[in-house]
Amino acid sequence: MKLLILGDLVGRSGREAAVKALPRLREDLGADFVAVNAENASHGFGLAPDMAEALFAAGADAITLGNHAWDRKEIIPYIAREKRLLRPLNFPPGSPGAGAGVFSTRDGRKVLLAQVMGRLFMEPMDDPFRAVEELLARHRLGNGLHAALIDFHGEATSEKMAFAHAFDGRVSAVVGTHTHVPTADHQIFPGGTGYVTDLGMCGDYDSVIGMTKEPAILRFTRKMPGDRLAPAEGAATLCGALIETNEAGLAIGIAPVRVGGRLAGAMPAVG
Ligand SMILES: [Fe+2]
Ligand SMILES: [Fe+2]
Repeated sequence: MKLLILGDLVGRSGREAAVKALPRLREDLGADFVAVNAENASHGFGLAPDMAEALFAAGADAITLGNHAWDRKEIIPYIAREKRLLRPLNFPPGSPGAGAGVFSTRDGRKVLLAQVMGRLFMEPMDDPFRAVEELLARHRLGNGLHAALIDFHGEATSEKMAFAHAFDGRVSAVVGTHTHVPTADHQIFPGGTGYVTDLGMCGDYDSVIGMTKEPAILRFTRKMPGDRLAPAEGAATLCGALIETNEAGLAIGIAPVRVGGRLAGAMPAVG
């Protein structure tokens, strides 16, 4: 099975590039399941329901969020009824929406997608390790589950790697989001779990992690309130990964996908 996941869409640049590219990308890569992180899609902060609808219409099977999940308040009633939209699993009990879901591919195979959030250099959060232990006690690869993908939304590379190793052999892949910078450490761990520390954002890389440069620089050079951060609106580079799994649901390939904009391109060879 082939799983495509795109990192944080930032603002109009990332959002519109993803909506435009997804149908073709899905086809060209032969993706059976497509997930998109869209926590920054709405002007850099949160996700509006109409934007989620546009992503679903373009071919996203599921959307994940992150620490910006609730920045657009309209998403709260929407996530309560839209099961394809996920927020971090380790949000406190009683938070709206769900942190994991089982999705059917077009040919009827089942994919578990979950998102968890890290705790290093992030807001306080329940334990992501324990949250996923509990989830996997209910959803085991095999037993009618063909793939399991985890979006680890976090700042610290160490926490992401430790988490992924802790679940090596029990999920198809763990991919990082949140830093908005793609890493080059795509690999398959000894137990068969695919991994990359961060997918990178889908947005304009002539920016400070997707935001216009000047106000972002001022935040570091002056301890004064400045202009509100706004997304950079140049051409986006779409960043993500394609994971290929075997019969057991474990990874046999993980490769970067980078299309458009300023970053050097990368496209998996599709057999
Ligand atoms: Fe983000
Ligand atoms: Fe984030």
